[in-house]
Amino acid sequence: MAKDVIVALDFASGAQVFEFLDLFGKEKPFVKIGMELFYAEGPSVVKEIKARGHKIFLDLKLHDIPNTVKKSMRVLSSLDVDMCNLHAAGTRAMMTAALEGLTREDGSRPLLIAVTQLTSTDQTALTREILIERPVDEVVMSYAKNAADAGLDGVVCSPLEAGKVHEKCGDRFLTVTPGVRFAGGEVGDQKRVTTPLKARELGSDYIVVGRPITAAEDPVKAYERCCRQFLLGYDD
Ligand code: C5P
Repeated sequence: MAKDVIVALDFASGAQVFEFLDLFGKEKPFVKIGMELFYAEGPSVVKEIKARGHKIFLDLKLHDIPNTVKKSMRVLSSLDVDMCNLHAAGTRAMMTAALEGLTREDGSRPLLIAVTQLTSTDQTALTREILIERPVDEVVMSYAKNAADAGLDGVVCSPLEAGKVHEKCGDRFLTVTPGVRFAGGEVGDQKRVTTPLKARELGSDYIVVGRPITAAEDPVKAYERCCRQFLLGYDD
């Protein structure tokens, strides 16, 4: 199964992104484009990054009625991205419609993964505001199972949950995991972090890494260190 390091391009403009990507020369990391960059630059930034030879995870977290999501996914699929996502809370009907929209005429489609509960939603908010009484871990696993049953390819989760997700939804169901830091590195606003090596040991399929690479003194070195640990199992 494909495993990879996905670099989160959390920049506010295309100019900053291209300056960053130029550092990598011929190396073409798999990258994640989020809402900030997409809303600032629009589809052209996706096309330009694709044309440079990168794989793209377009992280726009769709959540709307099934028909709207289906038609929007059709547009994203035509941008030739490799992975995109939605909120599992939109229901199985929405997830099935999304898959239909994503599937191109030749039968190919980008990978589709689900966000279960945002890590910023804690038990208190879940219970008091969203009126879900069940424990947050149970909600996350149940949403992951809904996504698997709807035919999605995986979920975004913590590396610490990757094993449990694979147990419940199967080994081939992908775990795409942020919250990765080098040993002794800045944690920033992430609460539960693991190293790239630990994420490998825990069974993550893709790690999503932002600041440990984008804010590093030498981003290329930091990316290569991530790859060595996550893809090859080196302890450095
Ligand atoms: O800089 P850092 O490595 O923390 O970046 C992680 C990336 O993964 C960011 O783009 C962040 O928005 C995203 N993400 C996350 N936690 C989630 C979902 C997405 O950190 N639960």
